[in-house]
Amino acid sequence: MIVTPFGSLRIYSHADAESLAKYADNPKIAENLRDGFPHPYTRKNAIEFIDIAISKNPPTLFAIADSHEAIGGIGLMPKNDVHRLTAELGYWLGEPFWGRGVVTEAVQAIVTYGFEKLGLLRIFAEPYDSNPASCKVLEKAGFIFEGRLKNNVIKNGVIRDSMMYAITRNPPKKQ
Ligand SMILES: CC(C)(COP(=O)(O)OP(=O)(O)OC[C@H]1O[C@@H](n2cnc3c(N)ncnc32)[C@H](O)[C@@H]1OP(=O)(O)O)[C@@H](O)C(=O)NCCC(=O)NCCS
Repeated sequence: MIVTPFGSLRIYSHADAESLAKYADNPKIAENLRDGFPHPYTRKNAIEFIDIAISKNPPTLFAIADSHEAIGGIGLMPKNDVHRLTAELGYWLGEPFWGRGVVTEAVQAIVTYGFEKLGLLRIFAEPYDSNPASCKVLEKAGFIFEGRLKNNVIKNGVIRDSMMYAITRNPPKKQ
């Protein structure tokens, strides 16, 4: 578990299925994510996701939780081959909790985890150009805007640009 000012990032359990389905079932969330994040989002979708999340070792997918329940999700998706020291970052938060700095704090916490525990050197995120709140989160968390990826995605039938943000650390010095 990673403690943050608002609560924690913690491993999922099957008991989170109800709250995940409650908060994730929101088109304002799904429209900003990959098609793999469904809408509508059912309890069955939540259970399938939780099964994937708890199978990861080391853990890379965490619930954003307050003292009562899971209120969102955040995760690192490590790449492979020559990109194996890089991971993509993704996140979402239940709408009742937006605008309180929760995800900025969660991003800062998972970046530290990714660098210190997973040994990553680069963490990136690619919000759509229609998502200024997510761009702001990344800027507040210290990510650098690296450029606009033209026509990078098609979401809900609309072709969009992605905004490439990344945070990096220097490789450890050789002994
Ligand atoms: C984007 C999202 C993760 C932000 O979470 P959050 O906890 O509300 O974010 P924070 O409160 O830490 O920061 C949001 C910042 O964006 C700003 N913001 C919100 N809407 C904005 C808009 N339309 N234009 C510009 N800035 C905006 C807020 O004012 C805040 O900045 P501030 O602290 O300087 O005032 C959340 O809204 C969400 O889950 N959205 C749907 C899923 C999603 O977009 N995931 C990311 C995919 S890349």
